[in-house]
Amino acid sequence: MSNDGVNEGRRRVLTALTSVVGAAGVVGAAVPFVGSWNPSAKAKAAGAPVEVNISKLEPGQMVTIEWRGKPVYVVRRTQEALDNLAKGEGKLRDPGSEKSEQPEYTKNPVRSIKEEYLVLLGLCTHLGCAPTYRPEVGAEDLGGSEWMGGFFCRCHGSKFDLAGRVLQGVPAPVNLTVPPYKYISDDVIVVGLDQEA
Ligand code: FES
Repeated sequence: MSNDGVNEGRRRVLTALTSVVGAAGVVGAAVPFVGSWNPSAKAKAAGAPVEVNISKLEPGQMVTIEWRGKPVYVVRRTQEALDNLAKGEGKLRDPGSEKSEQPEYTKNPVRSIKEEYLVLLGLCTHLGCAPTYRPEVGAEDLGGSEWMGGFFCRCHGSKFDLAGRVLQGVPAPVNLTVPPYKYISDDVIVVGLDQEA
């Protein structure tokens, strides 16, 4: 069961990652030829910031991009999802994200710069599987009326809300990580650069 969960989780991530090669390619195209002869530039490119165009993301949708070899989830939350965040706080392990990793500028109840858009590292804080996006409120397999929408890790059953905050009673010890990111326009987020930079 757990192996299937791991494999399925990986498959999902890989499938999603292939769809954003174009976006990462744009970043690479800005430094033509340099990487072929300068190893330090190559190393730099591997950790380079990644631009994400969010203009076509509909409310409720999520896109996965790759940054430093890791999946990053960008979710456009609906107003209902935002309203539900406060309702589910009593069931969270660390509602204020005191023990969790996120940039200072996302240390707020919705864990984001603009409340509509959530940016998270798509790696479970238990053992690193990729949690599945499960925004549907009341999903029967995730607790029925208790479930307010969020992320579910199939590997060992960890659950997170739609701010990436971990629920009580699951193996994951802390909330999902928020990576550094900033807006360079209303439609474009750069993952890997701090807002102040
Ligand atoms: S890796 Fe997610 S619950 Fe274990």
